[in-house]
Amino acid sequence: MKRLIMSIFCIHLAIIFMAATALGQEKSRFDKNDQCVICHKDLEAMPENFEESDIHMQKGLSCAGCHGGDSTSDDEEVAKRKGSGFIGVPKGKAIIEMCGKCHSDIAFMRQYQPRIATDQVQQYAKSFHGQKLAKGDTKVATCASCHMAHSIFPAIDPRSTIYSLNIPETCHKCHSDEEYMKEYNIPTNQYDKYVKSVHGIALLEKQDTGAPACNDCHGNHGAMPPGISSIGHICGTCHVNNQAYFSKSKMAIEFEEADLHACEECHGNHEIQKTHDDMVGTGETSTCVECHDEGESAYETAEKIHTELIGLVTAFNSANVLLKKIERVGMDDLDMSYAVKDAKQRLLSARTLVHTFDADRVKVKTDEGLEFAKKALAFGKEELDELDFRRFGFGIATFFMTIVLVALYFKIKDMERDE
Ligand code: HEC
Ligand code: HEC
Ligand code: HEC
Ligand code: HEC
Ligand code: HEC
Ligand code: HEC
Ligand code: HEC
Ligand code: HEC
Ligand code: HEC
Repeated sequence: MKRLIMSIFCIHLAIIFMAATALGQEKSRFDKNDQCVICHKDLEAMPENFEESDIHMQKGLSCAGCHGGDSTSDDEEVAKRKGSGFIGVPKGKAIIEMCGKCHSDIAFMRQYQPRIATDQVQQYAKSFHGQKLAKGDTKVATCASCHMAHSIFPAIDPRSTIYSLNIPETCHKCHSDEEYMKEYNIPTNQYDKYVKSVHGIALLEKQDTGAPACNDCHGNHGAMPPGISSIGHICGTCHVNNQAYFSKSKMAIEFEEADLHACEECHGNHEIQKTHDDMVGTGETSTCVECHDEGESAYETAEKIHTELIGLVTAFNSANVLLKKIERVGMDDLDMSYAVKDAKQRLLSARTLVHTFDADRVKVKTDEGLEFAKKALAFGKEELDELDFRRFGFGIATFFMTIVLVALYFKIKDMERDE
């Protein structure tokens, strides 16, 4: 028996050991006989920011995969001799060629990841960065500035410089560096504005990866300022209805003709803030009055839309306050809470419909919302009446109970005295 237990124990130990070594191998899978790695490690001549778990090292592509040379020789002279393909440290365009050697080769890449895109070099060439590099400006971003050279990870890896939460930092490195960007005629405040914007707060503070990082508006490899007509489409990839309403509105055509930048004109780009109802109308914080003056029909439209929205907001708020009050006294009316929800939903739709710049279309929604708010108020009133009625009933009952109790008290007293 003892022997049986002993052998089961040994088998378990062996399995754990095998699993552990397999895990160990997963951690550093690059070729243990790679002389480039061996010598550089021995001489402590590893490049800066080197990570053993770099995706290329993991896949056994190693130093020679990028730098060229003969990785089987432990003699530096032989390893880097002429004809070995050794290219040394690449700069500027040579970096694009280095990465492109594999990343533009569909057949090669397919062996590793069947679905990986192989158009980065092509896209990059069309980007603002790529175009300037082609003209000899080596200060623009190359593949290695955004991805690093020796600690490259896929975008889904939180250690990656292109992981969505890290991208603003990656672009910030150059674009917020006044000294570095001094010779260019562009602002260096994109990051500072972005972190305070509704998108920046959502991504960086709330970690909502549905909010755009720099690359979602500028493209991964096509980093360009979005063109005037394409910008609405970029915002529209997420804000589908706003884009659909706006692009069909009369104003969209006029914007295009007047060289106005669609969504950006009213919301900005890097500093986009939470919106509010006074942005439409004729008040001080309205965007409409920036372009429309009193007497224009558009000015009147703005005022009408604002009135409709505020009307619904007021009704919705009263209904909501009443609902809260009813919930506080421990009653809960499903009909009422559904009506309040419906009113709220109409209000949100009406706000999106502002982008039609058509007061009648907004009014259709706000009227629907008002109906629901009224219904909710009516349900609420019924509920309160019932509460009052119950309270009244309770009061009467208590009154009579008290009388009975008092009578009883005197009766008992009487009986005691009699005894
Ligand atoms: C016998 C040791 C040894 C081997 C083998 C070796 N290297 Fe090096 N490598 C060095 C040392 C030492 C330096 C830094 C001093 C110098 O520039 O020679 C260096 C420098 C480099 C540099 C920077 C070159 C520059 O011009 O600044 C690169 C890139 C490089 N090695 C890549 C490789 C690659 C790729 C391989 C394999 C094909 C390799 N090394 C094999 C020792 C080695
Ligand atoms: C994915 C491609 C890639 C791989 C793999 C790679 N390198 Fe590099 N290496 C580069 C690029 C690109 C540069 C230029 C860096 C820059 O300009 O930011 C560079 C620069 C260097 C430099 C000089 C600058 C520095 O950071 O010190 C050395 C030395 C170097 N590499 C050695 C190595 C060694 C050793 C290995 C293997 C352990 C290796 N590289 C693997 C792409 C690569
Ligand atoms: C020797 C060929 C080769 C070279 C040169 C090379 N790569 Fe790669 N790279 C690969 C392969 C293969 C993969 C895919 C590994 C996998 O996921 O299976 C990869 C993966 C990547 C990934 C992760 C892709 C993902 O989302 O899964 C990035 C990013 C990347 N490489 C960037 C670069 C950059 C930047 C350079 C130049 C500095 C470069 N590569 C040079 C072969 C190469
Ligand atoms: C301006 C920064 C920037 C530059 C320059 C850049 N990349 Fe990228 N790269 C990104 C971003 C951002 C992503 C995608 C992140 C995501 O998918 O969310 C990405 C994704 C990738 C991927 C993953 C597969 C894919 O296409 O989605 C590869 C491979 C890659 N880049 C290679 C390259 C190569 C090769 C170059 C040079 C020709 C390059 N990158 C230049 C920022 C950059
Ligand atoms: C290595 C530094 C560096 C990095 C990293 C970098 N850029 Fe750039 N970028 C530049 C330089 C330099 C220019 C050229 C400015 C000019 O000529 O006006 C530029 C130009 C641009 C432009 C065009 C600006 C214009 O003039 O209209 C955009 C857009 C842009 N970058 C976006 C990005 C985004 C998005 C990222 C991150 C994914 C990024 N950049 C990362 C250096 C960098
Ligand atoms: C919500 C979309 C969006 C996001 C997110 C975004 N941008 Fe922009 N960016 C734009 C628009 C729109 C423009 C202006 C294009 C125009 O007016 O021609 C612009 C312009 C730029 C320019 C040109 C110079 C300027 O300021 O006008 C640079 C550089 C730039 N962005 C970098 C960045 C960086 C870096 C980030 C991340 C920190 C970022 N952008 C995030 C939409 C965005
Ligand atoms: C990748 C998707 C995406 C893109 C692209 C995008 N947004 Fe957003 N946007 C969001 C998300 C998600 C939120 C909600 C953030 C939050 O508050 O949690 C948001 C919020 C907003 C808000 C605030 C809404 C409110 O309730 O007050 C405005 C305004 C806005 N975006 C405008 C724009 C404009 C203009 C563009 C183009 C320049 C744009 N967005 C591009 C995803 C996106
Ligand atoms: C950046 C400037 C700009 C802003 C901001 C702006 N508009 Fe306009 N709007 C125009 C231009 C240009 C036209 C076309 C010329 C015209 O009719 O005045 C126009 C046309 C209109 C029209 C159609 C004109 C008509 O006579 O029927 C309406 C309605 C309208 N705007 C409503 C609004 C509302 C509501 C707002 C605020 C939410 C607003 N606009 C904000 C520039 C702007
Ligand atoms: C003429 C000015 C103007 C233009 C152009 C404009 N908006 Fe708006 N936007 C507004 C106003 C005003 C509000 C506030 C409505 C409210 O809360 O009552 C708003 C609200 C929003 C909201 C929050 C409400 C909602 O629908 O969820 C988003 C998101 C938004 N806009 C996105 C966009 C996008 C995307 C574009 C471009 C396709 C765009 N806007 C173009 C004026 C504009």
